[in-house]
Amino acid sequence: VDLTAANTLRLPCQAERFAAPTTLTVLHQTLAEARRQGWPVTLLGGGSNVLLPERLPGLVVRPALNQWWLAEHQGQVLVYVGAGVNWHRLVMATAARGLWGIENLALIPGSCGAAPVQNIGAYGVELADTLQAVQVMELTSGRVYWLSAEACAFGYRDSIFKGELAGRVVITQWVLRLSRTSAPRLGYGDLAARLPGTPTPLGVAEAVCAIRREKLPDPQVLANAGSFFKNPLVTDEQAAQLLRQYPAMPHFPQGEGLTKLAAGWLIDQCGLKGMRDGAFGVHQHQALVLVHFGGGDRQGLMKTADYIAARVEARFGMRLEPEPRLINP
Ligand code: EPU
Repeated sequence: VDLTAANTLRLPCQAERFAAPTTLTVLHQTLAEARRQGWPVTLLGGGSNVLLPERLPGLVVRPALNQWWLAEHQGQVLVYVGAGVNWHRLVMATAARGLWGIENLALIPGSCGAAPVQNIGAYGVELADTLQAVQVMELTSGRVYWLSAEACAFGYRDSIFKGELAGRVVITQWVLRLSRTSAPRLGYGDLAARLPGTPTPLGVAEAVCAIRREKLPDPQVLANAGSFFKNPLVTDEQAAQLLRQYPAMPHFPQGEGLTKLAAGWLIDQCGLKGMRDGAFGVHQHQALVLVHFGGGDRQGLMKTADYIAARVEARFGMRLEPEPRLINP
């Protein structure tokens, strides 16, 4: 099965087998069959945050549990969401119903099942802010159980699903808590400036879409996986030292002696915005996004990424780490 169109970076990838189970029962049977046959299982969501290899032996499973529903009880709004639901559609549908909580996360590509893995975040909000619990199915046993938000160990672009539970469970559904009480979070960048008057969840979501469309390439038009590097965390001391040299450097103190820097700014300062290296390049409007013009593979992409990381390291002294997940057979 050709997965080239199933990953937004359009890296060429051939999977030996592919399944998209639509119910928990079918997912259970699919995993049982893989165990019987001894097929290694690789999980895939919307393919918007992965670096796929050219060949994937075994079975690729993309959960297609595509239902979501609202449960409203005494002013509490809980949203139950299947792993196959498209994230952006969920954001727009809940925002249109006047519910606050995830409107800043509009236009993030990918499936809801993948969202907790990297704890998607943008414009000052993370999924972890509203997520209550995550249901998973264990690969080795087919057992289904729930993890509380606390048990998910969420961090910046991080969770237990990247750590201890990596390759061990399929996320099947999760529950969000949203609110009907006005709670706009407009502190990031120029979001507030774009929203005169009394904001609504839909208004915020639409403003976020407009900002993203200006800076981030549409993967349907130009292949990419959003931010290619994580924003680096450095010690406050290291940040202060850099600020003496670069007073305009964006920096975000995180507490506990650590400061987050903007990888896009660091790459931009190295003069790399808009650069092209064969099939790959740095996006002209956002230096943190690597784009694929076509004809390249993962090896080529990693070569370009290494070059960029080396340039940033030579100038600023810290090593950037890729943000999308490296998938290996
Ligand atoms: N900047 C530059 N040049 C650039 C890019 C950025 O100078 O080419 C500067 C900006 O002017 C700004 C700072 O760097 O001062 C931060 O830029 P921006 O607000 O665009 O956000 P980011 O840190 O580059 C992060 C997330 C994005 C998310 C935005 C908005 C990561 C790795 N990336 O990007 O997430 O949409 O903030 O919240 O944390 C993703 O994960 O795929 C993603 C797109």
